[in-house]
Amino acid sequence: MAHDVLVMGSFVADLAFRTPRLPAWGETLMGGTFALGPGGKGSNQAVAAARAGAKVRFFSKLGDDAFGKMARDIWRQSGIDDSLTGTCGEATGAAAILIDAARGEKNAIIVVPGACFTLTPEEVDAASAAIRSASVFLTQLELSAATVQRGLEIARAAGVTTILNPAPVPASPLSKELIALSDYFIPNETEAALLTEMPVESVDQAEKAADSLIASGAKNVILTLGGRGSLLRMRDGKSTLIPAVNAGPVLDTTGAGDAFCGAFAAGLAEGFDAAKAARFASACAGISVTRPGTAPSMPLRAEIDAVLRPL
Ligand code: RIB
Repeated sequence: MAHDVLVMGSFVADLAFRTPRLPAWGETLMGGTFALGPGGKGSNQAVAAARAGAKVRFFSKLGDDAFGKMARDIWRQSGIDDSLTGTCGEATGAAAILIDAARGEKNAIIVVPGACFTLTPEEVDAASAAIRSASVFLTQLELSAATVQRGLEIARAAGVTTILNPAPVPASPLSKELIALSDYFIPNETEAALLTEMPVESVDQAEKAADSLIASGAKNVILTLGGRGSLLRMRDGKSTLIPAVNAGPVLDTTGAGDAFCGAFAAGLAEGFDAAKAARFASACAGISVTRPGTAPSMPLRAEIDAVLRPL
């Protein structure tokens, strides 16, 4: 069976706390609310793509534990084929998410990837037929760099469109080889600033940072700019500013970048050009921020279409 979008990435359980501020070292702080739910950038993006209408296959590794069961549940509910994802002896990972109680727009995350980080380049080789049969291959950096690189190499060699969301930005410099394997390289403004060591506070600066990433080898760059939308910068020098979509009051922006990447991949797989796919992705992200959580906040295709219709 052909799969439109193959997402290779992480699943972790999200432990989300609403808090008035970040605690200091040594301090215990009383929080507001707590929620436990499915997360991990890879899985969130797979859920976004599937709910946006793509046929999705998710490739990762899980622990044989309650968080692993949580993963399979959200994938089943979202219609994702998880047959490539195995179970191993390592525990499924978790993320501590601190959300600003007053303004859901700010968050801070610590992620411990656990089982998914044991996915090896050799296991990626074993899944190469599935990667080659996809139209779009989407991945992030919550797996080891060697594993991500192998996936991108297999997809690139087979002519599959490749998307790399360079999140989280690793402590050691990202290799140019990895950047050059991406047809679409999709950082947010913080990630772009870290990767280029350039300020990314205005659209002009975003364009310069995108050009620097293209000079490092990325074919095309989409720099997401939160409430200001996103900048699509193509290798031929063409720029398109895609406005953010306001779908209601912002409750929680965690996972908005994942909503964007997943829906963008789904749009490309459906045959949209990059600008149309980015507008579609912007609508998906705009809806997701009106809801709590990450994977559970991803909208269905009908909801995205309803938001886009009047625009
Ligand atoms: O992008 C948001 C995600 O980052 C969260 O779901 C968390 O698990 C971390 O991986």
